[in-house]
Amino acid sequence: MAKIIGAIGTSHIPAIGKAIAGNLQETPYWKNFFDGYKPIHKWLENNQPDVVVVFYNDHGLDFFIDKKPTFAIGAAASYQNSDEGWGIKTIPEAKGDEDMSWHICNELVDDEFDITICQELRVDHGLTVPLQLMWPGNNYSHLKVIPVAINCEQHPMPSPKRCFDLGRSIGKAIESYDSDQKVLVLGTGGLSHQLEGERAGFINKEFDLMCMDKLVYDPQDILGYSIRDLVEIAGAQGPELNMWLSMRGTLLGDIKQLHHNYTIPISNTGAGTLLLEQK
Ligand code: DHB
Ligand code: FE
Repeated sequence: MAKIIGAIGTSHIPAIGKAIAGNLQETPYWKNFFDGYKPIHKWLENNQPDVVVVFYNDHGLDFFIDKKPTFAIGAAASYQNSDEGWGIKTIPEAKGDEDMSWHICNELVDDEFDITICQELRVDHGLTVPLQLMWPGNNYSHLKVIPVAINCEQHPMPSPKRCFDLGRSIGKAIESYDSDQKVLVLGTGGLSHQLEGERAGFINKEFDLMCMDKLVYDPQDILGYSIRDLVEIAGAQGPELNMWLSMRGTLLGDIKQLHHNYTIPISNTGAGTLLLEQK
């Protein structure tokens, strides 16, 4: 059966794409942030996943406010990126794994998750920036990617518990897929941030660090928040924590935290990085 070997929580903001394009990794503003990926690069080199399931949110590239699936999954042979207007370079297409995607979709619907299945899907910075962070130089052509988009842009949004349960269901689906592929799961976005309005720039470091801590060994303790709670405590875009909760939900076995990092502020966010290994 396919095996989830580990999971990573990471920021996805467009400013990171610009920093990579400008080669700014060693500058004072960026150094601590990019240093947080060095242990991850080493781990990826040693563990070589075949498939990457990416929980991200589409900020308006393919799902605009006129059509907004709560949960959407890619089932395409490849995924393109397009210019979103942030001034970041587009990246080469990511290859898909249609068979594994359809297996996950079938299992999810059987498990009563009513997902949107996308045989064509353009992917935005929520997915592309993390790929660039994990595989510098866009060195991901050997990998297959399965995008899972969660609505974090337009209310009503799914609850933290629902997103964790989605992750659980996807974890079970992967572990029942007949192949010997090694799977890595990414949860992207967050942590606390607010991009607009009177509280623009709002960050809650204490809450971010508590969530990163609880997420590892006691995720149940942070599943009781509502979306309104997250907006109040972690900012209007605080619900991006949901992608981290889905990521954690996929890990059904014993896990070990191998690395974490937190840099504040990176653009308007508390930028967390977390590497979990599953036995
Ligand atoms: C920023 C944060 C985001 O989550 C995002 O999607 C885009 C920009 C920011 O802080 O700049
Ligand atoms: Fe975002």
